[in-house]
This record gives sequence, C-alpha cells and structure tokens, in this order.
Amino acid sequence: MDELKINVLYYGDNLEILRKYIPANSIDLIYLDPPFSSKRHYNILFKEATGELSAAQIKAFSDTWHWDQAAEDTFQEIINTAPPKVAKLIDAMVDGLGRNDVTAYLVMMTIRLVELHRVLKDTGCLYLHCDPTASHYLKLVLDQVFGVKNFQNEIVWHYRRWTAQAKRFQRLHETLFFYTKTGNYKFNTQFTPYTAGSLERKRQGILHRFKRGEEPYLVTTTREQGVPEHDVWHIPFVPPSAKERLGYPTQKPEALLERIIKASSNEGDVVLDPFCGCGTTLVAAHSLNRRWIGIDITHLAIAVMRSRLEDTFRGIQVEAIGEPVDVAGAKALARQDRYQFQWWALSRIKAKPFPEERRKGADKGIDGVIDFVDRDEATGKPSMKRAVVSVKSGHVHVKDIRELKDIASRHAMGVFITLEPPTREMRTEAVSAGSYHSPLWNKEYPKIQILTIEELLRGKAVDMPSPTSPYAKAPKVSKKEEQLPLEGS
Ligand SMILES: C[S@@+](CC[C@H](N)C(=O)[O-])C[C@H]1O[C@@H](n2cnc3c(N)ncnc32)[C@H](O)[C@@H]1O
Repeated sequence: MDELKINVLYYGDNLEILRKYIPANSIDLIYLDPPFSSKRHYNILFKEATGELSAAQIKAFSDTWHWDQAAEDTFQEIINTAPPKVAKLIDAMVDGLGRNDVTAYLVMMTIRLVELHRVLKDTGCLYLHCDPTASHYLKLVLDQVFGVKNFQNEIVWHYRRWTAQAKRFQRLHETLFFYTKTGNYKFNTQFTPYTAGSLERKRQGILHRFKRGEEPYLVTTTREQGVPEHDVWHIPFVPPSAKERLGYPTQKPEALLERIIKASSNEGDVVLDPFCGCGTTLVAAHSLNRRWIGIDITHLAIAVMRSRLEDTFRGIQVEAIGEPVDVAGAKALARQDRYQFQWWALSRIKAKPFPEERRKGADKGIDGVIDFVDRDEATGKPSMKRAVVSVKSGHVHVKDIRELKDIASRHAMGVFITLEPPTREMRTEAVSAGSYHSPLWNKEYPKIQILTIEELLRGKAVDMPSPTSPYAKAPKVSKKEEQLPLEGS
C-alpha cells in the first residue's frame, strides 16, 4: 500500500478504497454519516438560472437494502474473516432477525466498521451518525468492533423543523455514537459560554449552590471558558434558505462537524469521512486546519464537493482519485454505469445534470445544461442564457447533431460530448449551425460544439462565456474567519 494521501477525494465504494489506499493506524478522526436504512431515495436539488434551488431533482443515492447475493457474500466474509466476537454477533443477528432488509444493511455496515477500526490510530476517535431506525443494532456492532470500554458517548443531536401531525411524539433528533480505539485518546473539552445570569452569579463569587444532605455548600470555579459541553446538542438543521445549503439531501450543518473536529482532533490531524456526500466534514476540517480524506460512491457527490471546496477556499487544488484519467477508464465507467459516466462527463464542463422527468417532448435529448450570464441584445440588461448538453457513450451519428441543433435553436448554444470520435459529416453538420453572438463579451461562439472525451481529458474546454456554478454556491471563508483561534485546544 502506498503512503497515505491527504486532502483528496476518492470516488468509489469506501470498502474497496479503505482496503486499497488507507494504511492501518493512519487516521486521527473518522466521522461517518452513512445511509440510515430509511428505505428512501434521496434527491439533489440544483440551482436554477435564477439562483433558486430547483424543484426538479436528480436521484443522488438510494437508501434501500435487500438481502441479495452481495449481502450473502458479505455475511460469509464476516463469518470467515472478522474478529470472532464480531462474527458471532452478526451470525446471531442474522439467525434471530432473518435474512432481510435490516440485516442486509447491518452486514454492509459491519464489514466497513471493521475496516474503519483498522485504519484508526490508537489515539483516534470515531463518530457514527445514525437515527433511531437502526441505532439500536449499530450500537451492538460498535460494541463488538471497538470494545464496550471504548464507548464514550451517545450524543443526541436535537433540531427543530416544520412537522406534520403525527400520532406519536415528534421525531426531532439523530444520534451520534462516539467510540475510541483505546483509552488513550485525544479530547479537547468544548465549552458553552455562560449565560448572562450565571455570569452575574459568578461575578458575585457564587456559581452553584448544591445541597448535600442538610449542609448547603458553595462551589467556586476557575473555568473561564463556560460550561463543559454535554451530550445533547441543540444545533439548527441547515434551513432551505441558508447560505450554507447546497441542495444535497441529508446535508449536515457545519457547526455539528466543527464541534466534533475541535473536540477530537488537533491542527494537522487527519480527518476521514467515508460517506461524505456534499463534503460538510471536509469543509469544516479544512477551515480548522486539519487534513482530510473524503470518499463517496457517486460522481454527483464528487462534483458537488469539488465545487463546494473550490467555492469556499480560494485557490484550493482538489484531487479526485478514481475518476477516469484516460479513454479506457471512461469506457469502463460507461460500461459499468451510464448515469455515473454522464455525471462525470457533465462535471468536467461544469454542466448540471438535466432531471429525468424533464427529458420529454422537445427537451428529450438533453442530458445537462450550462447556464451563463449574458446581456439582452434589445434591453441591454443582464440576462441568463443556457447551453444544452448531450452526452453519448455509444455509437454516434449525424442525426444526433441534427437533433441537438433542433433543441439548441431554442437556447443559446449546444454541446455534444462523445466517447466515440465523431464522423466528418457530424463536424460539417455542427459547423452549419453557425454561431452564437454574445452581446456582453461582443464575441461569436460556435453554436454547436463537439468535444470528445479524449479532448476533455486533455483539458479542452467548451468555447463559451464563463458558466455560473451549477450547485448552490458555498459561502466563501474569509481570511479573518480562517484565522480564528481554536477553542479548547
Ligand atoms: C447521508 S449521505 C452523507 C451526507 C453528508 N454527511 C453531508 O453532510 O453531505 C451518505 C452518502 O454516502 C454515499 N455512499 C453510500 N454508500 C457508499 C459507499 N459504499 N461508499 C462510499 N460512499 C457511499 C452516498 O452517495 C451519499 O452521498
């Protein structure tokens, strides 16, 4: 195994990535927010040309599990290779609960938790984020993998949101299990500032008055920072209107991650998020001067994260390992999963995927769109324009260009991305579409452009005015914020 690479994104299944790239005892802090076994599909919302988050959605990932051959194989692997006490527990769970959706989810999680335990340093900490759907089962697994004595906290994250009527108490919390690898772990106590009332009592020299038996006694304190943080955290959910909100489903608040990272790591430490979604952990880690590694199984998440990191930290270089680097890799991706190939190709030209439900009628052939700002010729006012994108991984034909020309006639431009080289006829047809005149830049751009994957990999870009970010823009971290002193370290 090579040396540990840091400040990188990995595309792929975290089990394979952990085994291939992450050495034993190399990580200081792991935060994982896996799918919760919610039996739902999660969609991503994209930013419309107006800047609003769009109601049209793209499926980002699924959280549905079934006992299939892969689950059976993983189960057998746990029985044969996991530490005996872990194997025994899983055997008993599958025996007692049956081979079903819940146990399929549990075997998927168990094999990964064993691997995460391997990569954690002896001084390291792990926080598993889950909810009451499966938390009771996951704690049993964690106890076996990490040892009961290394359980530190069950943190309740409580938030408020609009709720519907229900014939039960409203469910408004999620759970974080905090485990360490050994008893010798890092912990920087976090403090909640004193309230005005307790500050006043403190000024008078009395912080608390306890009764012990009959005798009242005074407690004085030397703690200046505030009250040590407890295990029930009231942190607001990322509201739909918040600047921080990216449209990624299940996005967690940065404040939650900041508290974990400050408490369980120091500057320069390595933080790993193996299910990192839109990259909240990575952004919080980078702002707090930690090093980071993120893994996700979709190109959509990798694209959102890259864009979020680039928007938040000026000049940051984000390396994504596991993305195709040559035509053979792109072909392999297209064979494996057409959607992943499309998402990857679209992210190379900063296009956002076009929702499946809108691909009908005149817009049938659109796979992606790139929005950009131009000026309206008639009024002279700024106006949003759109380039429509078609991505092909199979055979291509001149009729594909004719179709794109037709769609693009209702928009500013058309871009055709192809894995196979285009024919001379296709190139001629594209040129026959003429050009798009940009009043803002006072420049002509070819109306229809054909780019091969090979050209994209060589760094060729679409010839057009600079696009707006396809994802809601992450707020930029200012120099001042970047240099805030670290609490509790
Ligand atoms: C609940 S979301 C994480 C959200 C994240 N905490 C945030 O704030 O954006 C779970 C993520 O895990 C990814 N995922 C699911 N299975 C995976 C696997 N086996 N390997 C890597 N990533 C996976 C999904 O694509 C999804 O982005």
